[in-house]
Amino acid sequence: MTTGATEREQWGSRAGFILAAVGSAVGLGNMWRFSYVSAQGGGIYFVALYLIFVAMVGIPVMTSEFAIGRLAQQSPAQALKRLGGDRWSPLGWLFVFCGFGILSYYSVIAGWTIRYSVDAFRHAIPTDTAAYFGAVSTGSGAVVGHLLFMAITIFIVLKGIHKGLERAAIIMMPMLFLLIIALAIWSSTLTNAGAGYGAYLNTDLGNISFMSVVNNAVGQAFFSLSLGMGALMTYASYLRSKENLGKEATIVAMTDFGVAFTAGLIVFPIIYSFGIADQVGMSMVGALFIALPAGLQLLGSSGDWIVLAFFIMLFFAALTSAISLLEVVVTAFIDHGMARRTAALGAGMLIVLAGIPSAVFNLNLLTAIDQIVGNFLLILGGLLTAILVGWKLLPQADAELAQGMSSKTARKGWALLIKYLIPPVLFVVLILGVIPATWTSIKTLFGI
Ligand code: PHE
Repeated sequence: MTTGATEREQWGSRAGFILAAVGSAVGLGNMWRFSYVSAQGGGIYFVALYLIFVAMVGIPVMTSEFAIGRLAQQSPAQALKRLGGDRWSPLGWLFVFCGFGILSYYSVIAGWTIRYSVDAFRHAIPTDTAAYFGAVSTGSGAVVGHLLFMAITIFIVLKGIHKGLERAAIIMMPMLFLLIIALAIWSSTLTNAGAGYGAYLNTDLGNISFMSVVNNAVGQAFFSLSLGMGALMTYASYLRSKENLGKEATIVAMTDFGVAFTAGLIVFPIIYSFGIADQVGMSMVGALFIALPAGLQLLGSSGDWIVLAFFIMLFFAALTSAISLLEVVVTAFIDHGMARRTAALGAGMLIVLAGIPSAVFNLNLLTAIDQIVGNFLLILGGLLTAILVGWKLLPQADAELAQGMSSKTARKGWALLIKYLIPPVLFVVLILGVIPATWTSIKTLFGI
C-alpha cells in the first residue's frame, strides 16, 4: 500500500484546496436544480429552509468529512475500515459506487453542454430548441458528448492532485465566477427581470406540503455540497496543513449557495423576459436546455454569445465536479496499490460504458438513476457518516479538528449537531420523503 506520508500527493496551497472543493460543490446541481426546485416548491421559503439545512446539517457533515479525510490520509474505502472497523468498510465502498454511479449520468448531461457551446459558437442552434434538445440529448450525439467529456475528466485526473485537479480548479473557477457575475448583471437589465425574480422567489406555498419542501432542501443540499459519498473526504485526505476545517467548510458551502442563488437570478429573468415561461413545463432540464436558448435566440446572433457564455459556465461547473467524482473512485484504487494512471483509465472507461444507457435511452432512466444514487444513496451515506463520526469516532475527529479550529465552543456545537441532531433528522427525511420518492421514480421507469 502506498499510504506512507512521504509519498502521498498533496495540495500545493490552501487556496488550491478550497478552490478544488468549491469546484466539486459548484456543479450542474447549482445551475440545473436549485432555482428550478425553488420556483416549483416554496420559492423564498425553500431558499430559507435550504440555508437552515446548509448551516445545521451541511456544514457540520462537511466538516466531519474533512476531519476524517485529513486524519486518515487515505481514501475513504480504506480509511473507514481502519478507523471504524470491518463493519464500516462497506460504507467506503458505497462511496466509490456512488462516485461511479453519479458520474455515469452526470457526464451525459455535461456532454450536452459541450454540444450546445460548440453549436452556439457556430451560430448553429436552430429555432426549434425542443427538437434540437431531443436530438442532442439522446442517441449517438449524446454518446459522443459523454465520451468527450469523460476523456477530458480522465485526462485531468491522470495528472494528479497538484498538476491536475488543483490546476484545473485554479484556472476554471475564477472564470466561472466572472461569467456568472457578468450574466447576472446582464440578466438584470432585461425588461421583465422583476417578474422573473418574483417567480423564482415566490411566496406562494400553494398546495406544497412542508415535508416535500424539507425533502427537496435536504436532497439538494447533499447533492450540491458533494456530501454523503466521500468526495470531500477524499480531497481532505490530500491535505496535510493544519488549517481550520470548520472555516473551510463554511467557505465552500457559502460559495456554493452563492453560485446556486445567482444562477437563478440569471435564468428566471431570461425566461420571463422572452415570454417562454410556459415552455419550461415540468422539467428542470427543459428550463435550461430548451427555454433558455429559445429565449436568447430572439436576440439574434448576439443571443448566441450569451448562450455560449452560459453553457461554457455550465461546462466548467460540471467538469470540476466530475473530476471529484472520478477521484473518489481513483483514490480508492490508488490506495489499494494501483498506479494512478491505471486507476484513472480503468475506472474512467468503465464509467464511460456505464453511462451509455443514460445517453442512448430516454430521460426517465437518467432521472431514476439520479433519484436513486444522487438523492437516496447520498442521504443514506450522509446519515451513516454522521453516525460513524458522532457515535464512534468523535474523540479522534474532534482532536483532528482541534488542529486549526481552536474555538472549543464551535467544536462543541459541531459535536452536538453531528451526534444528536443530524442522525434523527436524516433518518426521518429518508423514511418519510426520500424512500417513497425513490420508489415512485423506479415505478415510473418501469411503467408500473
Ligand atoms: N456537487 C455537484 C453538483 O452540484 C455534484 C456532486 C455530487 C459532485 C456529489 C461530487 C459529489 O453538481
